[in-house]
Amino acid sequence: MERPYIICHMLTSLDGKIIGDFLDAERTQHFIEQYEKIHDGYECKAWMCGRVTLEEHFTFGHKIDLTTENISTIPRTDYVDNKDAKTYVVAVDPSGKLGWTKNYISQGRENSSGDHIVEVLTEQVSDAYLAHLQKLGISYIFGGTESLNFTVVVEKLKNLFSIERLIIEGGGVLNGSFLNKGLIDELSLVFVPIADGASNSMTLFETGNYLKRPQPVNFFLKGVQKLDDGGLWLRYVTK
Ligand SMILES: NC(=O)c1ccc[n+]([C@@H]2O[C@H](COP(=O)([O-])OP(=O)(O)OC[C@H]3O[C@@H](n4cnc5c(N)ncnc54)[C@H](OP(=O)(O)O)[C@@H]3O)[C@@H](O)[C@H]2O)c1
Repeated sequence: MERPYIICHMLTSLDGKIIGDFLDAERTQHFIEQYEKIHDGYECKAWMCGRVTLEEHFTFGHKIDLTTENISTIPRTDYVDNKDAKTYVVAVDPSGKLGWTKNYISQGRENSSGDHIVEVLTEQVSDAYLAHLQKLGISYIFGGTESLNFTVVVEKLKNLFSIERLIIEGGGVLNGSFLNKGLIDELSLVFVPIADGASNSMTLFETGNYLKRPQPVNFFLKGVQKLDDGGLWLRYVTK
């Protein structure tokens, strides 16, 4: 299979939580900065997140009004608006809920034209949402008829956008989907030296409703680096 090298990069508490009050602690800010620095150091052409994460951090729950558009049927074929972007953000949004208003995410970097958005959809998405994406110049690919096959998705990312290295950055449901498909080559964890302590908050890998029988996955240590103020950067590989 021709696919990108895939790194899962996450910030966690000592008890493996990826959300919770520990993220708001003053001390955590330093580790968030380290996390971003390490992200940049990987020099991946694309980063990917699940719909919930993108809604929380980038579209802020904005909803697009699609009811007024009188749209004819749009074929469920991949739509490449920009195959030569320098960088991409890949949004896993199976039914087309994300309220994008432009075709890139700019993370405040100077002289950056931003990361071109590629939506990952199922064929259940509405014609009106596809028309909206085309109007904005957002690329999209189909990962399945009713559910997503991430093996197909990552092959398309390589073939259509020449993405050789992909960094996936949560949340837990997206990470879990990749883990259980054997699609993680490297795990990069920035450990914040705080135990969150909440038993019901999300961990690094979750299964959502998509997976009934997750399998344990072996990792092999590639590197350990101490960070200031007691944090750790751990790197593991699966082969
Ligand atoms: N600590 C960190 O480093 C870090 C990093 C990233 C995110 N986070 C946090 O993680 C939280 C969100 O995590 P999450 O796990 O709830 O959400 P998520 O992984 O961001 O998004 C989950 C959604 O993505 C789509 N999706 C993911 N896997 C799928 C699959 N196999 N098949 C079909 N659709 C799939 C579904 O969208 P639909 O619901 O639309 O079907 C699903 O509900 C946020 O609070 C965020 O801040 C933390």
